[in-house]
Amino acid sequence: MNILLLGSGGREHALAWKIAQSPKLDKLYIAPGNAGTAEVGENVALKETDFDGIARFVVEKDITMLVVGPEVPLVEGIADYFASHAELSGVKVIGPGKKGAQLEGSKDFAKAFMMRHDIPTAAYRTFNGTQLSEAEEFLQTLRPPYVLKADGLCAGKGVLILPTLSEAKAELREMLGGKFGTASASVVIEEYLDGIECSVFALTDGKHYQILPEAKDYKRIGEFDTGLNTGGMGSVSPVPFADAQWKQLVEQQIVRPTVEGLAAEGIDYKGFIFFGLINCDGQPKVIEYNCRMGDPETETVMPRLKTDIVELFEAVADGTLDKCVVEEDERAAVCVMLVSGGYPLDYKKGYEMQGVNNLGDTIAFHAGTAMKDGKLVTSGGRVIALTSYGADKAEALAKSMRAAEAITFTDKYYRRDIGQDL
Ligand code: AMP
Ligand code: GLY
Repeated sequence: MNILLLGSGGREHALAWKIAQSPKLDKLYIAPGNAGTAEVGENVALKETDFDGIARFVVEKDITMLVVGPEVPLVEGIADYFASHAELSGVKVIGPGKKGAQLEGSKDFAKAFMMRHDIPTAAYRTFNGTQLSEAEEFLQTLRPPYVLKADGLCAGKGVLILPTLSEAKAELREMLGGKFGTASASVVIEEYLDGIECSVFALTDGKHYQILPEAKDYKRIGEFDTGLNTGGMGSVSPVPFADAQWKQLVEQQIVRPTVEGLAAEGIDYKGFIFFGLINCDGQPKVIEYNCRMGDPETETVMPRLKTDIVELFEAVADGTLDKCVVEEDERAAVCVMLVSGGYPLDYKKGYEMQGVNNLGDTIAFHAGTAMKDGKLVTSGGRVIALTSYGADKAEALAKSMRAAEAITFTDKYYRRDIGQDL
């Protein structure tokens, strides 16, 4: 079959790499893709939100499966668009419709959903611009630090954690006043949860689910989790504290009630569910849902997934996921992200890269790269994700470190401590 994958980051290169290994695949297209995805398929110059353009391409190239990498087209309703056009309705879309994507598209929807289905999460309340004094009163009932979340999509920037009440009140006023545009017209204020985070991923066909390998990502720019938040500086899978007993709790208290809750509410969810969890004294709680895979978690999850992903995707579309078995690679995988100096603030692009093609068994997933005049150059803050396998995470990290040194470009920066806190 022909498959079209939407997206252009390291996550999409990892998905493309995995899809390309399937014997079920005839031709893989990636829109818009990057220099890495061009090695495993054909890039197409289409924006992920150009639904009409995507539809024309799907018909022209006889695409039978559409895999949606990022959240924006899902929240904007690409699955509903396909379902409502007769010539597209046979296409197997991997990704939920607009309603299901609200798990990520609206923090308030997600919190209320968890309350309705008794899914463990932080206590919260949601306020809009007319409720400023009530919101401030609620803040006063909480202990520091204070967690403020813009209700809508903010490209990962909509969560603020403030150490003092006065800073929290000031931020709250700014958010409700339009700091993130309409995304912060409503703000979720929630209890701060202390613990280690872990990302758990499931695929669901709307009735059944299969849980994929878990991972932990590293968001801060500096080693030992210091400095500004980024899109992700690395990831590790498996996560040592996520043992069989903990995973059983996650499945019973979180994954199953989520899938059953969606079905009970008449939401036909077909795609990935990303459970951003925190381990509070052995008890998993949900920090957030996403309606897609994580980045850079995908760069360690896909390498550890032995099962054919296209087979899983077909089962998602056909409602037969209960017949599938997910096999995991026993080895550990560690991903180290090389970024442009200055990121996540200002940085320069267009630097020539060397050494990418000679990395032994380390896999290089491109994130922000491009081809310019036949040469590979940097084209983003996060540039390339280096994933290695090892008997344990120390061995995997050591291999990724060697690859990180072997690749050169001006102002290269990376963290050397991925997985070392666990
Ligand atoms: P989110 O965009 O919801 O993933 O939030 C971004 C990050 O903020 C999470 O990965 C956590 O590190 C942190 N965070 C969000 N909510 C909470 C909370 N209730 N308690 C502690 N940390 C939180
Ligand atoms: N790594 C976190 C995310 O993809 O949202």
